[in-house]
Amino acid sequence: MSLLLTGISELTTNDPARGDGHADPGDALLGVIRDAALVVSTDGVVEWVGPVAEAPDADTRRDLGGRAVIPGFVDSHTHLVFAGDRSAEFAARMTGTPYDGGGIAVSVAATRAASDDELRALVAARVAEMRAQGTTTVEIKSGYGLTLDDELRSLRIAREVTSHTTFLGAHVVPREYAPDRAAYVDLVTGPMLDAVTADGPTTLAESIDVFCEPHSAHAFDGDEARTILEAGRAAGLSLRVHGNQLGPGPGVRLACELGARSVDHCTFLDEADVEALAAARGTTVATLLPGVEFSTRSPYPDARALIDAGVDVALASDCNPGTCYSSSIPFAIALAVREMGMTPAEALHAATAVSARSLGLDRRIAPGQPAELAVIDAPSHLHLAYRAGVPIVRALDL
Ligand code: NIG
Ligand code: FE
Repeated sequence: MSLLLTGISELTTNDPARGDGHADPGDALLGVIRDAALVVSTDGVVEWVGPVAEAPDADTRRDLGGRAVIPGFVDSHTHLVFAGDRSAEFAARMTGTPYDGGGIAVSVAATRAASDDELRALVAARVAEMRAQGTTTVEIKSGYGLTLDDELRSLRIAREVTSHTTFLGAHVVPREYAPDRAAYVDLVTGPMLDAVTADGPTTLAESIDVFCEPHSAHAFDGDEARTILEAGRAAGLSLRVHGNQLGPGPGVRLACELGARSVDHCTFLDEADVEALAAARGTTVATLLPGVEFSTRSPYPDARALIDAGVDVALASDCNPGTCYSSSIPFAIALAVREMGMTPAEALHAATAVSARSLGLDRRIAPGQPAELAVIDAPSHLHLAYRAGVPIVRALDL
């Protein structure tokens, strides 16, 4: 069965070759087609894309009433598997308490204490919340278990809702290992990694990640991070890194050197970091997470300078209980446009095409592609940032 979608005032295809030739550079980047139509199969594959005047027939049709259609957001960085509440930590931060990663232990204790079904329900509710805001693909990290069993459990629960799972046993050194950090690195790179990859390298986790942050007593320094990433790579996982979040550090350069798919945060960068990221274009994406700067009162990264230097820039939510309990990609887009010098088109591209690439996905709307779409109650994608805070975008259910 096929479905013809009409009444699309503006379609973002993320395919510059498919756009209808507008001079605007944003429209060119996004491959925008005005007055567009789509044919999708009811099992979720795009069959035809183009101007409505040329649309073929289909079994059924639906008129979207002059709305904009975009590729569903790809949220390539989240920590959805957690229990507990850290709202008091957020409130304290708003009156001056700095973030140092110490609060992660609170989420670890609550997550370990939760039942499988409790965690499952929390994850399901968060994924539904995201879909209601236009996100159709989500990456989920472990990292609030920090024992072999609790990390495996977190990954299994995440795998029930996405194939884009990331082993973050190296989130922080848990309290019980504080006197012997090396023993914890051995646990992560030995028994934990073995268990994660036991049924095949990517059955449970697609990637490995590490919080490389010399400015936090709880996180990992450059040498520890290298050991963890090299072990993950040898086990067949792709690499992701939390780098340069709280201050300058080795994370970004390490990620570029090791060919990570993504290095995330990139809040404090020096010239050498920007050069390394520009040289790693096509391999390593810089994933910016402006909800974190918002929720930790940090300076925003200079996305404009990164894009102008030739860096691949993605946007994601980092939805987590500590530094950003927001699952909203439209919020991240609004911050990117208002605070980081991105154009609305660059921000949308970063939260779809580039974040997808960091997960090894192609997020263009073209025949043969999955029909992962979102619809905006507005005539153009500009309204995502323009109407900040208003719930105008949602995943399109076929
Ligand atoms: O991406 N930086 C490390 N991890 C998370 C925060 C985790 C937490 O505070 O619970 C982040 O910001
Ligand atoms: Fe994170």
